[in-house]
Amino acid sequence: MSIDLVGPAYAPVLAAIHALSFPRERWDAATFQQQLEMHGVLGLLDSRGGMILLRVTADEAEILTLGTVPAMRRLGIAAGLLADALDRAARLGARSVFLEVEVDNTPALGLYAAAGFAEVGRRRAYYANGSDALVLRADLPSPPPD
Ligand SMILES: CC(C)(COP(=O)(O)OP(=O)(O)OC[C@H]1O[C@@H](n2cnc3c(N)ncnc32)[C@H](O)[C@@H]1OP(=O)(O)O)[C@@H](O)C(=O)NCCC(=O)NCCS
Repeated sequence: MSIDLVGPAYAPVLAAIHALSFPRERWDAATFQQQLEMHGVLGLLDSRGGMILLRVTADEAEILTLGTVPAMRRLGIAAGLLADALDRAARLGARSVFLEVEVDNTPALGLYAAAGFAEVGRRRAYYANGSDALVLRADLPSPPPD
């Protein structure tokens, strides 16, 4: 497994993975660049074809996006990225992590349930196709001493 913390220079790579992962919802390279230039936003890349963006704000973190290209799914790439992101969030002082996920996104719901996320809310008609978003939260452990 090879996961790297990447900066704005990797925006085109993350955008390419995102485009393959989310055919209906494009974030272009400029969007990734803006995000990665923001304070508290971290980008992690698995060079096999996965990426995650995480924002850490004081004691809370948010998963902004997470995707694995279709040809590389069910190999543990997203689980590895998520575990790395949660570990980094805890070390940066976050005590809980939030995310939004489409209510019928079975693969993502399986991934998040396995990582300890639980439903804490629902946003009605949140997505462009009219479907609801579930808001999920996971509590983070205190960071281990360095
Ligand atoms: C959701 C997504 C990120 C999972 O990526 P992945 O690299 O294939 O996931 P992993 O191989 O790490 O899977 C980890 C666990 O998640 C769950 N999972 C993953 N895909 C699943 C599927 N199709 N059905 C059910 N559970 C699934 C399983 O528990 C899996 O563990 P297992 O393979 O040991 O059973 C990927 O399907 C994707 O990019 N989807 C489109 C974008 C998206 O929906 N992103 C999340 C938005 S919130």
